[in-house]
Amino acid sequence: MELLQQKILNEGTVLSDHVLKVDAFLNHQIDPQLMVEVGKEFARRFQNDRITKVLTLESSGIAPAMMAALELGVPVIFARKRKSLTLVNDLLTASVYSFTKKETNEISVSQKFLEPTDNVLIIDDFLANGQAALGLASIVELAGAKTAGIGIVIEKSFQNGGKLLRNKGFKVESLARIQSLEGGKVTFGTEGQVPRPTIYSQNQETSVQEVGVGR
Ligand code: G4P
Repeated sequence: MELLQQKILNEGTVLSDHVLKVDAFLNHQIDPQLMVEVGKEFARRFQNDRITKVLTLESSGIAPAMMAALELGVPVIFARKRKSLTLVNDLLTASVYSFTKKETNEISVSQKFLEPTDNVLIIDDFLANGQAALGLASIVELAGAKTAGIGIVIEKSFQNGGKLLRNKGFKVESLARIQSLEGGKVTFGTEGQVPRPTIYSQNQETSVQEVGVGR
């Protein structure tokens, strides 16, 4: 997504070889117009997946998830990391370890907001090691519902989260894929899904025939 890449280049700060600061438009101050476009792009990429709910994790996932849900015309639920005064009964929970922050969060969603018939789109701001998305997917599974896809605003493709989730068979769509932050420089990779490996089968006339490729 060109607009997002420009925003990262113009307003992002590389803090280290692993961490990109985007508090000017996503993690602290939020650019509403950018979020509208992010929501439209997620809706376009998941328009054929019969999404019934969007699920995210507080706090920075809420803005992009909200705009995607608005575009798709479905409710948005955010999993809580902190104990809530009112969220006490019938909770679906998962334990999420953050390698970046070196801490574990117990995340929870009220059972009443997820039905077994739901087709859920998980949205998050960053994909690093994939633990938050996996925790959210396990909550969807506990509800007996289906994870229809995972939408990520910024994927750091030099970390293993994207590979982990795609190897588990999830449809993962990232709006910006960062290949490297080395030397204080942001280098983008191909956005969107990593192409699936090409499958070849024997053909009687030619030695090999391509039968499946890409997205
Ligand atoms: P994972 O879910 O993919 O395994 O990611 P990880 O545990 O490594 O990251 C946990 C937290 O760190 C998340 O925020 C995530 O958004 C954030 N994070 C990871 N890499 C970066 C980065 O390069 N830049 C920034 N700005 N954040 C990063 P969180 O704890 O959920 O915080 P928040 O949603 O309350 O803001």
